[in-house]
Amino acid sequence: MLTTKDFIPEQYSNTIEKGAFQWSAPSNIALVKYWGKKDHQIPANPSVSFTLNNCKTITKLAFAKKDISTPLNAANNTFSFDLLFEGKPKEDFKPKIQKFLERIEVYLPFLKDYHFTIDTKNTFPHSSGIASSASGMAALAMNFMSLEKALNPTMTDDYFYQKASFLARLGSGSACRSVKGQVVVWGNQANIKGSSDLFGVEFPHTIHDNFKNYQDTILLVDKGEKQVSSTVGHDLMHNHPYAERRFAQAHENLDQLISIFESGDLNEFIKVVESEALTLHAMMMTSMPYFILMKPNTLQIINAIWTFRNETKIPVCFTLDAGANVHVLYPENVSEKVLQFIKDELVGYCQNGQYLCDQIGTGAILN
Ligand code: DP6
Repeated sequence: MLTTKDFIPEQYSNTIEKGAFQWSAPSNIALVKYWGKKDHQIPANPSVSFTLNNCKTITKLAFAKKDISTPLNAANNTFSFDLLFEGKPKEDFKPKIQKFLERIEVYLPFLKDYHFTIDTKNTFPHSSGIASSASGMAALAMNFMSLEKALNPTMTDDYFYQKASFLARLGSGSACRSVKGQVVVWGNQANIKGSSDLFGVEFPHTIHDNFKNYQDTILLVDKGEKQVSSTVGHDLMHNHPYAERRFAQAHENLDQLISIFESGDLNEFIKVVESEALTLHAMMMTSMPYFILMKPNTLQIINAIWTFRNETKIPVCFTLDAGANVHVLYPENVSEKVLQFIKDELVGYCQNGQYLCDQIGTGAILN
């Protein structure tokens, strides 16, 4: 069992003056939700997600050793970085990155030795209401690991990806599920060997062909600023009247998914996934302060999906994040029919008729 200490490196064998890497990392959609955390980004319950393919962040990290002969750098005790979004400086993203660097410095002791230029962009429209923190933190973590691997070339692939996920988690919890694998578990779960609170692992059991190329069409219901930041949201689970029961339920649902993934039973899959989505929102509605993050059109969509499923028996279902957008999940072999249904009946509920087609992907890629 790896512990936090295993991610603190010893002396590096190599030195490197400057260079650049570029990684893309996808977003992911949780089936069993992470909602509630302890200190140091330790989740209150285990979660599992499908890795997405098309919604991703592409981040280039250029690095150059600081010149320590200049007085400004001599002390070498500050982080030095420029942050570009779509090629242009973006000051508002800097505090989040600064905080991330502070959290990961003990695991990457070289961070203050370099000046970094971080140039990042998303494949999905800006302010689409799709959180870019998972894909963004994962892409950045991959780049830092590429630099660490350049300093320590004997590093194994397993360690590389585990530590990338470990670092990504410190940036944003769900980001640790955006590193590697199609179905990723994060958080200790007795029946999932190798599962850890510290990083995401590829779901280690059999996955039925029914889930191959599973589709996720994201209906953009409300593209506005998030009403509740995830940090505030997770905090609401402290002293929440139903927290303990909810955390236990996440374990139960994840256990159920182990056999559902094996059998390919889509009816059972739908029950777990929709219940998880509604439970997430129920937790927000029953916290103090309380929030309703669904919009009227979110409910319209949910009802339309239920009606369509009843009438056609097509196994399409929904899940939600901490917002009003709806993820429509369905197997590949019904995609034509479901897309037609979306166009005929759901697009009208989307802001500006916008939706994004995605499907299961495999994780971060070095470009
Ligand atoms: C509702 O990963 O965004 O999407 O760790 O504070 O950055 P932080 O939270 P974040 O929370 C995501 C919550 C969720 C459910 C999920 O993805 O599991």
